[in-house]
Amino acid sequence: MGTMKTRKHDAIVLSSGGEKAAQQRFVELLKSAPLPDDELLANLGLFLSSKNLSRVLFFEQIYRKIVGAHGIICEFGVRWGQTLSLLSALRGIHEPFNRHRKIVGFDTFSGFLGVAEEDGALSRCTDGSFSVSAGYEEYLGAVLETQEALNPVSHLKKWELVKGDACQTVPGYLARHPETIIALAIFDFDIYKPTKAALEAIKPRLCKGSVLVFDELCDDIFPGETVALREVFDLNRLRIERLPMTARVSYAVME
Ligand SMILES: C[S@@+](CC[C@H](N)C(=O)[O-])C[C@H]1O[C@@H](n2cnc3c(N)ncnc32)[C@H](O)[C@@H]1O
Repeated sequence: MGTMKTRKHDAIVLSSGGEKAAQQRFVELLKSAPLPDDELLANLGLFLSSKNLSRVLFFEQIYRKIVGAHGIICEFGVRWGQTLSLLSALRGIHEPFNRHRKIVGFDTFSGFLGVAEEDGALSRCTDGSFSVSAGYEEYLGAVLETQEALNPVSHLKKWELVKGDACQTVPGYLARHPETIIALAIFDFDIYKPTKAALEAIKPRLCKGSVLVFDELCDDIFPGETVALREVFDLNRLRIERLPMTARVSYAVME
């Protein structure tokens, strides 16, 4: 931890100087935690700030919305994969025997690919921003395997990481899996091109009750996600909602 160098994501950060200092203090306290190994995992809440906890709670509430809906979960833009791991734990809590609820993550695992004019200049991101450590998908695979092992029906693999440019990998995955319908699609590529390609590819696989989650809608720093949504769906027909506890994430339930 801390020794793995990655290319910094470069996006502008809106935290104040005081918040950044407190976050750094939390990192130092976590790295020097005097807890014994066998009590560490049960005490990770020590370091969960309200901002980070709000994201966990957001996904818990979103998960509740799909418990009665059939289909898989896709995350478009995985990075370190915390959301995939959380979703796997939430499946273990809310519907431990639903073997059809596969969780599939799409990412290059080498950062942004396809930054375009529609993404504007405010984020200061380029291709390669938000990269991860080399070979990270193998580490994440081990995390997801372990998460699955801690829940029922662990002998059936219910997750997949799909590496590469989403403009090709999302249509490719759906062609390989004609049985797929999507109950929950989480959009967090941040940028226009892969978001548009994924939206176009999944549209015929959505049903009434499917939930779409967006990390950057109406966001002036990453305008490309909204442009992509506007071009693929009729905004007038979507009810874009948010939960009061999170700053940025929004969702729509297909009606
Ligand atoms: C903001 S990060 C995702 C964060 C993650 N959802 C989370 O909750 O921590 C955006 C991700 O989109 C991925 N990405 C951007 N362009 C892509 C493309 N064309 N194909 C696949 N992945 C892409 C990047 O590699 C990066 O990991």
